[in-house]
Amino acid sequence: MNKNEFLYLQQEDVIKAGALDMPFVLEEAELTLKRWAQGIVKNPTKVSMRLPDNDHEQSFFVAMPAYIGNEQDSSTHLYGAAGMKWAAESISNVSSRLPRGIDMLLVSDPNTCLPVAFMEASLITAMRTAASAALGAKYLSRKDSKTACIVGAGIVGRLLISAVTCAMPALEQIYVYDLNYETAKSVVAEKEYPGVKVEAVPSLPEATGKADVVITATSARKPFLEYGWLQKNATVVQMGPTDIKDEVLLNANKVVVDNWYQVSGFYLSPVHKLYEAGFIKQEETPELRFIVDGQVPGRESEDDFVAYCSLGLASMDIAIGYKIYENALTKGIGVTLPVWDAPKWL
Ligand SMILES: NC(=O)c1ccc[n+]([C@@H]2O[C@H](COP(=O)([O-])OP(=O)(O)OC[C@H]3O[C@@H](n4cnc5c(N)ncnc54)[C@H](O)[C@@H]3O)[C@@H](O)[C@H]2O)c1
Repeated sequence: MNKNEFLYLQQEDVIKAGALDMPFVLEEAELTLKRWAQGIVKNPTKVSMRLPDNDHEQSFFVAMPAYIGNEQDSSTHLYGAAGMKWAAESISNVSSRLPRGIDMLLVSDPNTCLPVAFMEASLITAMRTAASAALGAKYLSRKDSKTACIVGAGIVGRLLISAVTCAMPALEQIYVYDLNYETAKSVVAEKEYPGVKVEAVPSLPEATGKADVVITATSARKPFLEYGWLQKNATVVQMGPTDIKDEVLLNANKVVVDNWYQVSGFYLSPVHKLYEAGFIKQEETPELRFIVDGQVPGRESEDDFVAYCSLGLASMDIAIGYKIYENALTKGIGVTLPVWDAPKWL
């Protein structure tokens, strides 16, 4: 590729370059958390815009920048990639047979600032969301965890089955619940999961009562997961922003977040509400990256009840997008496009 060109990858290209390879995505997501904890990744808080306004949402846009350095990083020459994901969701797409989430991702050279790749990123979003939840479950759950319950069988929910089986190979049973039982049944029937029993269930309290780990990824607009439905030493992972009731967090021995400023600043998050009311304190709410990197403890007792709340990390998107770009270059996938023939002014 010439310096004035970048690689364009449509969704099919992104798949060919590895976007649906769960072990690859999990490895990149985990490495990104470690590198961020070590200070060689930058993950500023995302900026969001709801249209026409917060109370009448039709469309939702989010700008998510990040810088992925590596161990050679220095202040004079930058390694790795800078980038931004432009994530969007449209409510009306559901009735017009378009995906609700439409994400695009730009990768730039961190030194010249030239674009090197632009790609479709909704699969990267869904895969890294499932990976992030699975990492939360892996690092925060009891060592003897055998049963998980996935709540919400949408795009993220179906990928969560692969993510948790991959990240937690000792799991023996996974329950999948959705408000629409038929959806849960069809998602479970989509694939074989060797070594683990995966079952769609019609009752949420019954399934959560048997689960060591409960992961929620629903499109619910109102909190529904109750503390009384859960085991007293369970791990709860919340990926949908409004899935869990405040009482779940109020009863937790430890609340962990993916990014404190994002989660505590988001008006729909229960962490935000409880932080504003003085029930949750920043110094008692570690970010998962420091637990993954071994800098702070996660679960401190097998009797603890632990919750992890996530709103999503741009650094995971950009790290995975950058690897996809590298894979695509090696395999000759994608189309090169010019930024200019010659820049008009220097
Ligand atoms: N934290 C993150 O990093 C991150 C990233 C992307 C998406 N998300 C969130 O994850 C959630 C799921 O995303 P998706 O793309 O899979 O959505 P989706 O629309 O594909 O699926 C959502 C599913 O939730 C089900 N559902 C709705 N209310 C429910 C309830 N009360 N109980 C059980 N099931 C219910 C729906 O029937 C649907 O099958 C969304 O809230 C999304 O905003 C989080």
